[in-house]
Amino acid sequence: MGSYLIEGGRQLNGSIVVSGSKNAALPVLCTTLLVDGVSVIKNCPRITDVLDTCRMLDDFGCTTKWEGNTLTVDSRNAFASEDSSTGAGKIRSSILFMGAELGRFHKAVVHKPGGCQIGKRPVDMHIESFRKLGVTITEEDEMYICSLGKLKGSDIKLRIPSVGTTENILILASVAEGETIIENAAKEPEVCALCDFINSCGGKISGYGTEKIVIEGVKKLHATEFEIISDRIETGTFLCAVAGCGGDIFVKGNVSAQSQAVMNKLEMCGCLVKGCDCGIRLVSSGKINPINITTAVYPLFPTDMQPQIMSVLTISSGISIITESVFEKRLSHAFELIKMGAEIDVKGSRATIYGVDKLHGAKVYGHDLRAGAGLIIAALMAEGKSEVFGSEYVKRGYENIEQKLQNLGASILFENTGETDV
Ligand code: EPZ
Repeated sequence: MGSYLIEGGRQLNGSIVVSGSKNAALPVLCTTLLVDGVSVIKNCPRITDVLDTCRMLDDFGCTTKWEGNTLTVDSRNAFASEDSSTGAGKIRSSILFMGAELGRFHKAVVHKPGGCQIGKRPVDMHIESFRKLGVTITEEDEMYICSLGKLKGSDIKLRIPSVGTTENILILASVAEGETIIENAAKEPEVCALCDFINSCGGKISGYGTEKIVIEGVKKLHATEFEIISDRIETGTFLCAVAGCGGDIFVKGNVSAQSQAVMNKLEMCGCLVKGCDCGIRLVSSGKINPINITTAVYPLFPTDMQPQIMSVLTISSGISIITESVFEKRLSHAFELIKMGAEIDVKGSRATIYGVDKLHGAKVYGHDLRAGAGLIIAALMAEGKSEVFGSEYVKRGYENIEQKLQNLGASILFENTGETDV
């Protein structure tokens, strides 16, 4: 597969335009299967998770077409998945097709999505919630076979504010008979964006952005034109890159309101951080104060930013502690950072980072999307040459990351060793 060849030790200066949000685009695209019409999705990132989702929409009989970053999805001739050749679950986030397929066809065949490098990623809450809405679900080998008699609204209280579970319920309940209430709902901006999309298709959802969401079911949803919000995690990734390398960056995009937790932590690290409606500016001397971070659900510090800020903290002037509270196995990048000279002690869900003067280049492997991004940041900070493997993960969530970093003055090249490029 591919790798990134990086020569570190340079300051990063300039501005970038952040892409559309991966985690907003994926649920919206899955929902276009529920909409019987031609949906026009603007500011859609051309990343492999989106391309894989488009392939699955094609498997369901939809027609997808790109014009720049505008994706058109024609689902008028869509059909339900009959066997394992289609159906949700081939990629992690495609569990979100479950709600759309059941809402449209009242049946679904869903692969059991596997775990991944950051944890088991069970879907028990999705299954429990759908049963409450009237779905009959049987497990056969690696599949869930789902059928639906009467789709009726229900009161659902989530054990944890799961993003994907909240999204799957929103999609299916939007066309249920009667009212559905989700208690302890996820409040992430990407969940709110999905509600905005469904409402723009004629749905009736209120209370989103709080822990109690109310969905009044409608008969069907109509097609619409919709713009994907900017990606707050890509934004934070670039802010961390400049924080660690030193420099001055302006990230263009309406992301300041959704990035407060990350901006506050980078300010505590000693950076100058200023947000406005059109973007965020960060200036860093490259000198970093030690800080403590616990990842949590929105609006607190996001787990998807944890590997990136860990790289920054490897060169702090003291001891920092990162506690990963969302996923049970999301600290593997610490062991790759140690190959670059970082001093990190990992015990359970806690990493203690003892700041060192500088990192040195090495060959390292990003085992998941955000670990790969964090290691790219570390390689940009390090003295000398590095090679970061696992580009297939990075490309799942970052559009043209090497071009954007080159525009800031970074020495980074992508070496394709056999993967099909985006
Ligand atoms: C979404 O994953 C994001 N993915 C993740 O981003 C993000 O890290 C996560 O939310 C948390 O913010 C997309 O939006 C496509 P969860 P999701 O359900 O929905 C447990 C990235 O890097 N859980 O909120 O899968 C689960 O194991 C990715 O962009 C159950 O126990 O996350 C986890 O510990 C990584 N049972 C916790 O809840 C369930 O049925 C939160 O997971 C569902 C989840």
